[in-house]
Order: sequence, then C-alpha cells, then structure tokens
Amino acid sequence: MLADAIKTYQQRVDAQLTARFTTLEEVAPKLKAAMTHGALLGGKRIRPFLVYSVGQMFGVELEKLDACAAAIECIHAYSLIHDDLPAMDDDDLRRGQPTVHIAFDEATAILAGDALQTLAFEIITESIPGIRSEQQLAMVKVLAKASGYRGMCGGQAIDLASTNKQIDLKALTQLHNLKTGALISCAVELALIVADANQAEAESMRAFAHAIGLAFQVQDDILDITATTEELGKPQGSDLESNKSTFPQLLGLEGAQDTAEQLIQEALSALAKLPYNSQLIADFARYIIERRI
Ligand code: IPE
Ligand code: IPE
Ligand code: MG
Ligand code: MG
Ligand code: MG
Repeated sequence: MLADAIKTYQQRVDAQLTARFTTLEEVAPKLKAAMTHGALLGGKRIRPFLVYSVGQMFGVELEKLDACAAAIECIHAYSLIHDDLPAMDDDDLRRGQPTVHIAFDEATAILAGDALQTLAFEIITESIPGIRSEQQLAMVKVLAKASGYRGMCGGQAIDLASTNKQIDLKALTQLHNLKTGALISCAVELALIVADANQAEAESMRAFAHAIGLAFQVQDDILDITATTEELGKPQGSDLESNKSTFPQLLGLEGAQDTAEQLIQEALSALAKLPYNSQLIADFARYIIERRI
C-alpha cells in the first residue's frame, strides 16, 4: 500500500512539473534543459508525498494540493543542484545522472537553482481553485522561511562551517533540523494550511514532521556509509571524503541507527494522537529509516 501510494503521488507531481516545464517559453533553452534535468530525472518525491498524504488524511482533494507539492519539489531540486556545486559538496552524480553543473556548466547550475526557487513561488501564488488568498499568503510565508536563512540555507551554511571540525550533538541536531528538517516540516505545514487544520491537530502533525525531518537526514548520513553508489545514485562516502559533521561520525553507526529509531517512535506517538486513519503516514515514517536510497 505504501509503495503504491509513493508511486501514485510521484507520478502525480511529475505530471505537474512536466506540464510546467513544457509551457515555459523557449527564452533560455539551456537553462530550461538544466532545470528539467535537476527537477525531473528521478527523485523519491518524499516532500510531495507528505503534502499529498497529510492533506488526504485531513480529507483534502488532491487537486488542491498539487501546487504545494510541485512548489516544494522545485525548492528541493534547487537545493540539491546547489548542494552538489564545487563550492559546496562538489559531487558529480545525483539520482544516477551527472549533476547539473557536470551535465551543463557551473553558471547554468547556479541559475537553474535560482530559477527553480522562484518558480516555486510563481506556482503557489497563481490562483488555485478552492484556496483562499490568505491561505496562499500563509503558504508563501512558510515556504520562504523554510527555504531561507531560518531554514535550508541557514542549515547549509552551518554544514559548511562545521566541515573539518568536531561539533557537539546539539549543534549537529540544529544543523540537520535546518538543512533538511525545515523543508520536510514545511511539506506538512503546507498541507495543514490547505486543510485548515485546527490548532491541536496541527501541533501533533508538527511534532511528527519535526521527528521524521531529523530522522530523514540521520538516515541520509547512515546511507552515505552503508549503501553503495549504485543504490544511492549519488557518490557513496561523500561525507567521509569531505570530513562532514554527521550523526555516524559523532555517535558511531549504531548510535546513529538508535537515534533514528527513537525519532520514529516519537513521530509515531505524535501521530497516534490524531483522530484520523494515519496508517499510510505511519508506514511512511518507518520507510524513512528503512529506505536504502
Ligand atoms: C537528499 O534528499 C538530500 C537531503 C535533504 C538528505 P532526497 O533523499 O529527498 O533526494 P531525492 O529527491 O530523493 O533524490
Ligand atoms: C542535504 O544534505 C542538503 C540539502 C539541504 C540539499 P547532503 O549534502 O547530505 O545531501 P546529499 O547527501 O548530497 O543528497
Ligand atoms: Mg551537503
Ligand atoms: Mg551533498
Ligand atoms: Mg548526504
């Protein structure tokens, strides 16, 4: 059931993104090709999955969730294109393909990231049937915050500053919460806005999202060591090679695995407080730390 839902939502957001890219005028064909390369060639689409599955749990129609799903994936794709640049992680493989700066060039990769970021805001500010403009304003706010200084970009900056350096667990947790947790929480927050969720339900979902957001990056760190380049579609050992601060580096592999497990338990107890059928989302939480890619 989880595998089917992942596939269905993946196809749905891919159709949204494909339609977007096909309607972009041929103003800058190389840039458009680079954006398409960075956003459409593979990817698990876990952030769109969260938008759709959380929205559906609250009874929202999928049509009302499409814009949020596509927008958050654009931000995520931009973050990966920039993350792989020589000035950042300097990786040449992503989703089993050459990274955007390898397939094109560095300047085009920078611009593709920039253009995907702004495209996300175009998508969520267009009129969406059944969504009020004050909901859209709230979406813009959470997406901007999660992407910027107080979210992903801030986390990436701390990541770079923590390279070749020993940091403590508190600092590492903050780093992961920002660079990865913020966008994962944002996916859930967008669904809560569309659903007009009440305060108590929103609080439980936020606790859930916070826990799986951190667990997701802990598992990403674990996979950097335990998975192969073929499985991952990105270079295995990238963190080790760059001497990054990661959970396994600080706590050991088993310590990191225990942390991931504890976080999933936290996520599941937050979910259990909700008066809805949350089985699919609970299965997804477990998948976060059992995945091999
Ligand atoms: C990789 O994200 C970068 C992190 C934030 C850990 P994903 O594992 O979601 O990458 P794709 O989109 O599936 O390739
Ligand atoms: C996630 O961290 C970075 C982003 C916020 C995009 P990583 O640098 O560990 O991601 P991967 O392992 O390259 O996908
Ligand atoms: Mg990185
Ligand atoms: Mg990286
Ligand atoms: Mg990684």
